[in-house]
Amino acid sequence: MADIRLESLRHVYSRGTPFEKTALDDVSLDIPSGQYVAILGHTGSGKSTLIQHLNGLLAPTSGRVLFDGEDIHRSKEALRDIRFRVGLVFQYPEYQLFEETVYRDIAFGPKNMGLSESEIDEHVRLGARFAGVDESLFSLSPLELSGGQKRRIAIAGVMAMEPDVLVLDEPIAGLDPAGCRALLKNIKEYHRSTHGTVILVTHDMDVAASEAQRLVVMNKGAVALDGTPAEIFSRPTELRSMGLDIPDATALAQALRERGVEIPESIYTPRFLAGVLLSRNGEGPC
Ligand SMILES: Nc1ncnc2c1ncn2[C@@H]1O[C@H](COP(=O)(O)OP(=O)(O)O)[C@@H](O)[C@H]1O
Ligand SMILES: [Mg+2]
Repeated sequence: MADIRLESLRHVYSRGTPFEKTALDDVSLDIPSGQYVAILGHTGSGKSTLIQHLNGLLAPTSGRVLFDGEDIHRSKEALRDIRFRVGLVFQYPEYQLFEETVYRDIAFGPKNMGLSESEIDEHVRLGARFAGVDESLFSLSPLELSGGQKRRIAIAGVMAMEPDVLVLDEPIAGLDPAGCRALLKNIKEYHRSTHGTVILVTHDMDVAASEAQRLVVMNKGAVALDGTPAEIFSRPTELRSMGLDIPDATALAQALRERGVEIPESIYTPRFLAGVLLSRNGEGPC
């Protein structure tokens, strides 16, 4: 299993200096093994600080991070183990590629896990497949590749460790629409075939709506809302007060409803809206 529990997590940066900043305040959250969770929130709401606690990269100022019921900071060994079980893809991870070849970059994580050469090779190929990196790129220098390809290589490196929990901080930021769609598909496939947990940080409501089964909305260092997409997007006023919006499909459905078209409330993806509109004419989408 890979159940995560955050208990009254608090994180203060630069404590005791004039730059002191409380980035997380009393965050409690349970993320059971296997969920696909999106973490949403305005810039500065604490998303990146929160997820860096999940693999022990940041230690709580107070509160606890539990993995399968045990504090991840209980020993050096436990903390080392958690780095492999909770794989963290930073924002703009392409700036952290540093090996001479694509293969060696993807192999970096599996190597640190202490695997044999043949196991490392298996993991590299698996990670590359999950992240959509073609093996023909293996011998190239990452520096020769495009930004989108570099991002995939960085993600492949984390997927290659086959973590139980895959955490991605704004993985689609700056990608073109095709690259964005392809990467989301890869992440979904990882979720489906590993049955692991995926935690996706994004401020794109449409992405959160179409990808995740649960949305956690952060505001000013606290969890403001936590629920299914239908539950979260039925609260547009609260979302707007936190600087967030509802998905385009939800806004369109609302505008149609105001013009007298009978449409249910819980619409948050274009696909579902299309289905509802077509079925009104007796033409279902399937
Ligand atoms: N290394 C740091 N030192 C001091 N303050 C920080 C640091 N990192 C983030 N912060 C502050 O903590 C708050 C939360 O930041 P962050 O977790 O990066 O939010 P988000 O990822 O939602 O944009 C912000 O006010 C930010 O300025
Ligand atoms: Mg961030």
